[in-house]
Amino acid sequence: MIEISASAPGKFVILGEHAVVYGKPAIALAIDRRFHMTVKGDDEFRINGEVADLRTNPHMKYILGRNGMTSVSVQMDSRIPTGSGLGSSAALSVAFSAAVRALGDRSVSEREVAEEAFEAEYFSQGRGSPMDTSASAHGHGIALNVSGSESDRLWDISKNEHTWHVSKIEIPAMTFVVGYTGIRAATGPLVEKVRKYKDSNRFAFDIINEIGQITLEGMDALRADDVVKLGELMTKDHKLLSILGVSSNELNKLVNASLPYAYGAKLTGAGGGGSIVVLTDQPDKVCDAIASRGGMPFVVKTGVDGMKVSVKRE
Ligand code: PMV
Repeated sequence: MIEISASAPGKFVILGEHAVVYGKPAIALAIDRRFHMTVKGDDEFRINGEVADLRTNPHMKYILGRNGMTSVSVQMDSRIPTGSGLGSSAALSVAFSAAVRALGDRSVSEREVAEEAFEAEYFSQGRGSPMDTSASAHGHGIALNVSGSESDRLWDISKNEHTWHVSKIEIPAMTFVVGYTGIRAATGPLVEKVRKYKDSNRFAFDIINEIGQITLEGMDALRADDVVKLGELMTKDHKLLSILGVSSNELNKLVNASLPYAYGAKLTGAGGGGSIVVLTDQPDKVCDAIASRGGMPFVVKTGVDGMKVSVKRE
């Protein structure tokens, strides 16, 4: 009997979510909260010992189908809150793709897993970018569609009219606090909301372009280790995302509460609910400010490894 253990980290977005769906640049960092699972062959699809319906787990269904399987037994456990803008669904897809590929004796490279997990997310969500699955597969820090040295290029992923060039990036030591609103927000409907806005309003596309522009400026700030500039750009990005309609009162409240103690703050991921991320050198004060407004704060560690997979034979 072969049993596979796999894990993959969540992520937050420094700059560029939503615009990245349209091929614009983005920067994302993996965090020290992971999805863990063990997977083994079974003639029924089971999650944590219970028979489960594959139709309600479309990304897992997609990954099994691509690997010529119909069912497995999955034992899983996650420290990434669901629908929190921290890439929990991408981490699940990455860990599951890595595990299922290993179970089927197929090669398990970060690139193949990032691509397969992206296709699975796309299949279940209907739209999106390979940012989350790339950050989760590779870990550490990644940038999409920013120019840099060829040696930093990890992989390219294309879908329909867009291509995303994914590169690894060096991240200077910085402290980030996440503030979770406690409100779960599914990514798909928010991505769809932006698409509708973009298709009905020329001005929305200007906002998307502007997000792309400040993400490039953010990359320069990161390279120069300029936290003041990077923070300003994050706060500006939050305003642009608000104009796109993906912020909420709860997110704005947490951003405003954090800003007196921060270089910058913004929502991370799809928005709607979910979380904010704050760049600060006063993490305790930011945590208190977030908690006093009803949010759940935690300091995140970055620079963490991406997917891990190991095979156990009994
Ligand atoms: O909320 P999350 O963690 O699923 O992140 C979504 C990021 C988006 O840019 C909004 C969508 C995407 O696929 O890139």
